[in-house]
Amino acid sequence: MSIEFAIADRGSNADALTELFSASLTASYISHSELQGGRALAPGQWAPDIKAILHREIDSRLREPLKAFPKRDWFGVVQAFDDGALVGLAFVTVTGSAPTPYGVIEDIVIDSARRKAGFGEKFMRWILDAFAQAGIRRTFLESGITNDRAHHLFERLGFKKTSIVMMRDG
Ligand SMILES: CC(C)(COP(=O)(O)OP(=O)(O)OC[C@H]1O[C@@H](n2cnc3c(N)ncnc32)[C@H](O)[C@@H]1OP(=O)(O)O)[C@@H](O)C(=O)NCCC(=O)NCCS
Repeated sequence: MSIEFAIADRGSNADALTELFSASLTASYISHSELQGGRALAPGQWAPDIKAILHREIDSRLREPLKAFPKRDWFGVVQAFDDGALVGLAFVTVTGSAPTPYGVIEDIVIDSARRKAGFGEKFMRWILDAFAQAGIRRTFLESGITNDRAHHLFERLGFKKTSIVMMRDG
């Protein structure tokens, strides 16, 4: 395996990124941001047009070519390739203007056929290193409350719970 990571830009394949992301959706992935941003209708229930929603989100994040994360406020997509084949994507955001600059890993997905081979950990470490090179030492992420497998990976990499998000309908 020869894994490489790159910041996606307007020349990247938005269709392939959308396919990869939408093929990986499970009910346990849904967290409060999916419910706030229209991706999901209810806990465990994706919006019927989720693929089109993800395509629009990806399009809005594919912009100027970059080799490194900027120090300024920025949002984008990182891609993971294995021997040239797209195997993962992550949505990342840099908030360099905050009192303590921080990064957010908004989404991270590895192709379901390639999981449990260490790609997820390598991808996370690459993103954390890219944040560090942009002067960012603090990283946030959120994940659906039942997404235990992902939480185990994040905790292993040093992430700790900082909030409990509650929601009430009705
Ligand atoms: C979460 C996710 C990104 C992890 O990707 P991954 O490539 O499977 O991650 P890794 O292979 O690095 O680690 C996963 C597990 O495989 C194990 N593993 C890694 N290499 C391995 C190997 N060579 N042989 C056997 N097991 C291995 C790890 O020990 C790890 O288990 P643990 O975290 O319980 O200790 C992936 O499962 C995914 O895309 N899930 C769907 C989307 C999602 O939920 N994203 C997170 C929410 S934002």
